[in-house]
Amino acid sequence: MGNFAYTGGRMQTDGVDLAQIADAVGTPAYVYSSVALEDTYRRFAAALAPLDPLICYAVKANSNLAVIGTFARLGAGADVVSVGEMARALAAGVPADRIVFAGVGKRRDEMAAALKAGILQFNVESEPELLALNEVALGLGLRATASLRVNPDIDAGTHPKITTGSRDNKFGVDIASAMRLFETAKNLPGIDLSGVAVHIGSQLTDISPLSDTFAAIARLVRELRGRNHAIRRIDLGGGIGIAYQGETVIDPKDYARVVMETVGDLGAKLIVEPGRSLVGNAGVLLSRVVYVKQGEARRFVILDAAMNDLLRPALYEAFHEIAPLVEPPAQAKLSPVDIVGPVCESADRFAAERMMPPLEAGDLVAIKSAGAYAAVMASSYNSRPIAAEVLVRDGDFAVIKPRQEIAQLFADEILPPWLTGGAHG
Ligand code: LLP
Repeated sequence: MGNFAYTGGRMQTDGVDLAQIADAVGTPAYVYSSVALEDTYRRFAAALAPLDPLICYAVKANSNLAVIGTFARLGAGADVVSVGEMARALAAGVPADRIVFAGVGKRRDEMAAALKAGILQFNVESEPELLALNEVALGLGLRATASLRVNPDIDAGTHPKITTGSRDNKFGVDIASAMRLFETAKNLPGIDLSGVAVHIGSQLTDISPLSDTFAAIARLVRELRGRNHAIRRIDLGGGIGIAYQGETVIDPKDYARVVMETVGDLGAKLIVEPGRSLVGNAGVLLSRVVYVKQGEARRFVILDAAMNDLLRPALYEAFHEIAPLVEPPAQAKLSPVDIVGPVCESADRFAAERMMPPLEAGDLVAIKSAGAYAAVMASSYNSRPIAAEVLVRDGDFAVIKPRQEIAQLFADEILPPWLTGGAHG
């Protein structure tokens, strides 16, 4: 099973003992479960099947080719926010006509590359971007298919740093400006503006902001059609949260029902852009305890993973469950510890005063829910090599990205001529 649960007292996924992976590839390492990826995708796709949407996996959540490829094989498209992500999606086997290009700051060279690749649509987020896209398309003798991202000014009720649909956020255009931009686009021969897009935030656990948003989109689409704008596609974005700490999350069936009730009867092609909900709980970050240090006020469990491998706790005060790979006995005494990494920042802390069973140097732990926004947000800060990534499937596993070598850390750095002469000046 792909559940990162204990079997015979040892944490396993997809029939593989995680300690075996740690021994083979070392730590820290991200480990993803194929069963979890595939089952989660299938469950989501099945719930939405009556609406026949295009599921564009938000590649930013986890852009390893093997992860994108797993979804591509199941029929997914991709939501990308840079030419880098577009190249990954294409390399992983996503057909160009299933790729949506989002983002507030697309450069002209990125627009040109995406136009040449023949992607499905651009999600345009401002008037200057609309004008730039028109020019780039005309320059190539092409016509860009686009949707306009609207900002409905609805509070997603999530962490402020991952809220995107309020008027104080840089994303999208307000509803009144949307009306005006559709008029503008009529006079832009390089653009076929024929869709509406929205995304109000990430890690939503309450469906009502989504249902309000989709209802606002439905009103907008009706009004635009009333003014003779052909609206053929509605992109509903992503944002469905996962359980990090036993939260009740949005059930795909409820999500499908809300979509059906709000925009289901408009006859538009629906696009959804789930990221985290497809991958978040399909991965863990394996790490080994380096030291246990008793401080004056607190006890610190120092891991070999750090904020450069998983930034979410430092950046968003995010909770990630942490569990030893060997199941602690039922009577194990829990005591509060700070679980930290070796990076020279006090923010390098995965958990504060977390109640944990006894941990010793050398013990292996899994930091859970690390399938989304973990490896993709990694850096080599403190010159720590980027960790390995592993995909498990059917009792077997494959390294899908080897651990970076020390030499690779600076292999592309160049000493300028005045530093290579050797002589003192
Ligand atoms: N579509 C658009 C336009 C987006 O901006 C995003 C995420 C998604 C789809 C996918 O959203 P999801 O289904 O994953 O919620 N690094 C943060 C999350 C940033 C999300 C950015 N946009 C975190 O670790 O919580």
